[in-house]
Amino acid sequence: MDTQALKDSWHLVSRSGDQVPLYFYSVLFLMNPDVRDMFPVSMARQRDKLVAALGKVISNVDRIEEVVPVLQQLGRDHRKFAVTATHYPAVGQALLATLEHFLGDRWTPQLAHDWTQAYNLVAQVMVEAANDASKTSPPWWEAEIVSHDMRTLGIAVIRARLNYQYPFRPGQSASISYAMRPRIWRFYSFANAPRQDNTIDLHVRMVDGGVLSSALVMGARRGDMLRVGAAVGERLTLPPDVQGDLLMIAGGTGLAPLKALVEQIAYEGPTRRVDLVVGARNSRELYDYEALAKMAAEHPWLNVVPVVSHDPFYRGTRGYAVDVALQGWRGQHVYVCGSEEMAQATVGRLLDAGVPTEQIHFDEFTSDKGRES
Ligand code: HEM
Repeated sequence: MDTQALKDSWHLVSRSGDQVPLYFYSVLFLMNPDVRDMFPVSMARQRDKLVAALGKVISNVDRIEEVVPVLQQLGRDHRKFAVTATHYPAVGQALLATLEHFLGDRWTPQLAHDWTQAYNLVAQVMVEAANDASKTSPPWWEAEIVSHDMRTLGIAVIRARLNYQYPFRPGQSASISYAMRPRIWRFYSFANAPRQDNTIDLHVRMVDGGVLSSALVMGARRGDMLRVGAAVGERLTLPPDVQGDLLMIAGGTGLAPLKALVEQIAYEGPTRRVDLVVGARNSRELYDYEALAKMAAEHPWLNVVPVVSHDPFYRGTRGYAVDVALQGWRGQHVYVCGSEEMAQATVGRLLDAGVPTEQIHFDEFTSDKGRES
């Protein structure tokens, strides 16, 4: 298989921008009208995720060994869209038709052969992982909202009870969909460690143009139902080899997974000093401060430092969370979570200040690409 030819051809095709998913979905839905219902009602082109992923993943098939765990995760997670093995040939066919259309004369039998092989390889990994997962876990869990607490304009803390046992680790997230906005899935982190009563807490901020986040913040009520995909993500979990004190830096609702880690330490130990620096633009956005202050009062090892960046009248510490955090860095591992912009800027500052890369654990919310913070 000529993997360079796959990359080059995808590069050429992607130059046609939004026309590519438009063509792909037209072919897919025309040839397989039954799959239309799996996709969101509005298929705004800029929101396309599938076609971009297909091109990227398949044209990098020479690195498949590296991405197998991600593909397995993707395959397992695709069960939430009601995707089964029988749908893969349809997507493969639409992909090939799209490539042929945009490549014109450059579409050769050899290239068609290589794309087919590469697609089948990726599809096989996803299908096998989905089949394995079906033996032990459902495609999604149902969760009933038991409380909806609007903390400030545009931020709600939602507690939901899952219908049966849901395995996850503090620091992980899951894709969530809401009955009032069917088929739209977005990732949210859990703001708690696993509980016996099977409830989870979500910190939801309404993002611009975010159909799901707006509905969850403004429209969701007690008794409404959510769907929750399997828990994913390792970047913000606390592995056994991360020993000693911790420094945590939260931006906005990026607090959620860090709060979950604090709960984990409180429940499981070993106790260690945790400095949690919570950054917000103004004091209203310190939406969970009361709960954090209560936790700090209960646990002497926890130090919570609220920091506000854009409010000249704020009486507490003003500035950027990372600057305040760095004043207290004494070699600890650092956990960072916030918007994409905040996470990138914070990690950059930490590296500049000499914090070793392997001691920085971070994740980011990219609100326009499938993750609403
Ligand atoms: C090699 C095969 C495939 C790859 C690499 C792939 C990759 C992806 C990725 C990365 C996403 C975004 C992740 C997310 O929103 O959770 C996605 C979304 C999706 N995929 Fe796939 N996928 C594949 C096959 C399929 C098949 C066979 C179907 C069935 C028709 C399918 C249906 C969907 C749907 C319905 C979405 C959500 C789209 C949206 O919300 O706009 N995928 N896919």
